[in-house]
Amino acid sequence: MIATKICEGIYWVGVIDWGLRNFHGYSTPLGSTYNAYLILDEKITLIDNVKEPFTEEMLARISSVIDPSKIEVIISNHGEPDHSGSLLKVLKLAKQAKIYSAAPNGVKILKAQYGDDLPIVGVKSGDSLSIGKRTLEFYLAPMVHWPDNMVTYLKEDKILFSNDIFGQHLASSERFDDEFDLDIALREAKKYYANIVLPYTKQAYKFAESIGKLDIKMIATSHGISWRSHIPEIMSLYQKMTTSTKKEKAVVVYDTMWGSTEDIAHLITETFMEKNISVVMYNINDTDDSDIITELMEAKYLAVGSPTFNNNILPRLASFLTYLKGLAPVGIKYIAFGSYGWGGQSINIIDDILASLKFERLVEPFKQNYKPKDEDLNLFKNKLSEALDKEVKL
Ligand code: FEO
Repeated sequence: MIATKICEGIYWVGVIDWGLRNFHGYSTPLGSTYNAYLILDEKITLIDNVKEPFTEEMLARISSVIDPSKIEVIISNHGEPDHSGSLLKVLKLAKQAKIYSAAPNGVKILKAQYGDDLPIVGVKSGDSLSIGKRTLEFYLAPMVHWPDNMVTYLKEDKILFSNDIFGQHLASSERFDDEFDLDIALREAKKYYANIVLPYTKQAYKFAESIGKLDIKMIATSHGISWRSHIPEIMSLYQKMTTSTKKEKAVVVYDTMWGSTEDIAHLITETFMEKNISVVMYNINDTDDSDIITELMEAKYLAVGSPTFNNNILPRLASFLTYLKGLAPVGIKYIAFGSYGWGGQSINIIDDILASLKFERLVEPFKQNYKPKDEDLNLFKNKLSEALDKEVKL
């Protein structure tokens, strides 16, 4: 295993997790990478590290360039174990090394996970560290998405080591945006933001402002590919996401028992199409929550339907709503719908959950007793159509 030179004196020494398929609920069909970087200067520096089971792979890549015992500086941009899991093994080899992490949260998080006796120095936004010919500058990004997040800017080479930010869960042999399919990289960066950063959009906006003046020639991420030829594209995507920019778009999500709720889902979808509003429809059983959230992040409308089942909603839909609640997208108008036999609770449950997320009700919920007839569907279609006409006029 060898390191990959990314510019003079700086190497990628990360690992590729080809088999990763789930990152605590976020589906990762393309796998991921945990990117770490080695800087050869007067003080040998390691920027971040990798998930613990991959430690030997990272050490082998470091060893292809230099003896790991020579590392003197370890930057920990983020203490989540996918970037800190190798710390103890690295420290065992590099006995003189010091860890630099955000104060106070990075220090607390690393000590809580790896022991109080870690040789760790807390840094604040704007602090810098000379490693010889080069200078590292630190910019804290609290709660994007843990309390300790920070990025490290290598002043002389104009490289931003951005950790999770600008990353993607994407396993690839390529390291850079100009070696890989740009559309896939941007799509996965969007999915990453929607499933990891979305609840912390205000903090992400603040962070983006704080690094706005930096002259960046390369963004070296800790997941997926890094950016050097398409920095304006990834910055533009983040600008849209951190300002919750919306499109005229709807997402329809449903579960069904005997097809009645599905009939309503089709009606709603068709109505959006007739109004020239872009729409995607998902049977929740056939789609990963994380893909739906990625679509929803930029949508203005959400329709959610479930039949009543044991006085409740169907469990797969309940799981989706729990995931949705955690990610808390904003600026959404909703429709609750469903079919029922004798109870009818499911529609109110959906209505209450969506209202509790501070979404705005677009139209009265559609509660259908058993199978909808044409007149039931037409009546609801007219109501939805009127509501959408009002939206267009707004
Ligand atoms: Fe890739 Fe928040 O860790």
